[in-house]
Amino acid sequence: MADALRLESVSKAFGGLQVIEDLSFAVPSGSRTALIGPNGAGKTTVFNLISGVYTPDSGRILIGGTDSAGVTAAQRIGLGLARSFQNIRLMPHLSAVENVMLGEHHRRHPLAPAWGRRATEKARAALTDAGLDAYDGMVVSELPYGIQKRIEVVRALLAEPSLLLLDEPAAGLNGAETDELRQLLERVSARGVTILVVEHDMPFVHSFCNHVVVLNFGRKIYDGDNHGVRRDPAVLEAYLGSSAGATDAA
Ligand SMILES: Nc1ncnc2c1ncn2[C@@H]1O[C@H](COP(=O)(O)OP(=O)(O)OP(=O)(O)O)[C@@H](O)[C@H]1O
Ligand SMILES: [Mg+2]
Repeated sequence: MADALRLESVSKAFGGLQVIEDLSFAVPSGSRTALIGPNGAGKTTVFNLISGVYTPDSGRILIGGTDSAGVTAAQRIGLGLARSFQNIRLMPHLSAVENVMLGEHHRRHPLAPAWGRRATEKARAALTDAGLDAYDGMVVSELPYGIQKRIEVVRALLAEPSLLLLDEPAAGLNGAETDELRQLLERVSARGVTILVVEHDMPFVHSFCNHVVVLNFGRKIYDGDNHGVRRDPAVLEAYLGSSAGATDAA
């Protein structure tokens, strides 16, 4: 099957700092791929390159087989791409359902009002599907962090993506919340949506993902299944040399 996403020799520097260096990897269609690595390895930068926030200095990024060069971030939604952010970006004073509606809004007409009854019903149905219907009328800032993180995922889903990028969706969640997130993403994956997830929670990566790419200092050091990654010498060294995730990766 075609790859949902392919990076070919992508490089990106900020000033004198080479953040991503000659990075190539593929995300197979329908896979649950993890992009992991120590803090500062360049994971969020890769997401920003894929979603069009940044432009690569060199190399190509193909989304669903289409070269994304010259394609704006907004146009990439039309290529089937949606993402969530490392830091919550919900509108704190709007309700859960209103926040989710913004996902639909972005997909259709960036400047047109999208507050009709049908849009509300669609957002409500998506929250119900995620087991979040109890919160739909509540103001987001008053909801627990774990609920807000899942609302972000639901908002991204309203764009009806074929490729979903999630930047640390389990960060700050307790065990029960992480289980609920995993169940939600398993249902999304079962519908055929390709998922690329950045995550430091290694038990989550090992239980949810079937393909793992590891970055260290902007370079790929591992690309394979989620069993081999636990024993890979370069991966172990990268994690043991950093403070984060050393014991998790082992
Ligand atoms: N816009 C920017 N300008 C300058 N440097 C940047 C910019 N964005 C990222 N960087 C640098 O690039 C490197 C990689 O950052 P990035 O946020 O991609 O790492 P990360 O792997 O997501 O880390 P974390 O696990 O902590 O989220 C860091 O050294 C960071 O300071
Ligand atoms: Mg990051």
